[in-house]
Amino acid sequence: MSKPRLEGKVALITGAASGIGEEAVKLFVENGGFVVAADVQDDLGHQVVASIGADRATYRHCDVRDEKQVEETVKYIMDKYGKLDVLFSNAGIIGPLTGILELDIEGFDNTMATNVRGVAATIKHAARAMVSKNIRGSIICTTSVASSLAGTGPHAYTTSKHALVGLVRAACSELGAYGIRVNCISPYGVATPLSCRAYNLQPSEVEANSCALANLKGIVLKARHIAEAALFLASDESAYISGHNLAVDGGFTVVNHSFSAI
Ligand SMILES: NC(=O)c1ccc[n+]([C@@H]2O[C@H](COP(=O)([O-])OP(=O)(O)OC[C@H]3O[C@@H](n4cnc5c(N)ncnc54)[C@H](O)[C@@H]3O)[C@@H](O)[C@H]2O)c1
Repeated sequence: MSKPRLEGKVALITGAASGIGEEAVKLFVENGGFVVAADVQDDLGHQVVASIGADRATYRHCDVRDEKQVEETVKYIMDKYGKLDVLFSNAGIIGPLTGILELDIEGFDNTMATNVRGVAATIKHAARAMVSKNIRGSIICTTSVASSLAGTGPHAYTTSKHALVGLVRAACSELGAYGIRVNCISPYGVATPLSCRAYNLQPSEVEANSCALANLKGIVLKARHIAEAALFLASDESAYISGHNLAVDGGFTVVNHSFSAI
């Protein structure tokens, strides 16, 4: 019998009440991890954890825009488990669907506060905890195809996800000295509450639109596929991978969709 991929590892997952984060909570626990699931949707978060069992997963309210709540969440983990091995900093919002000519500046600030400042706060406090216990941890952030391509989301969202790649590389450059790896994952369109609400579509409609524009045909991208990538980066199988933006996009961001030479 092979060893579970996250055996004995303690993980903090943000944005864990729904979508990609919810799948990651389940997958990490299935693979032997202990998970603290953090979100602002408390009822949903408690339901996710209840469906797994309180011995392996715990829910904590944590708004990543508030550094104090992030610090308290990490302290809770250190008091409960005495260490933190993995941070999956996944919480994010898509923000207002406005172009530059109609830019909603307050909405822009909120997107940056959640998708960039919030992630920075989680990296800061998770990394401090890892360093304090000499843990060669793994930090994973959720970016998007919008981290490398414009026109795939609202401008504030694209800005925030590009910035997140810079944050991941900066953190990678500093934390390598402590043996801590920092990576991100760039998903293509997945039917989650985020994408369904943003475009006022049913999950089947989001999936149909994504499939129509996808490079890789014959497969529907699911939140589980993104969680699988996070599991790989969280586990020791990716022991020498750091500073990477792992595209889970079926080649979408490396293909010219408006022209084909053959
Ligand atoms: N769904 C997609 O097509 C897609 C594509 C690329 C990237 N992403 C990214 O994936 C990540 C997860 O999104 P999802 O699609 O699973 O959406 P989702 O809405 O299902 O999940 C996001 C979760 O983040 C939580 N959240 C939002 N703001 C928060 C805050 N301030 N503090 C704590 N939690 C907060 C929400 O309550 C929600 O539970 C996001 O970073 C998103 O940008 C999604």
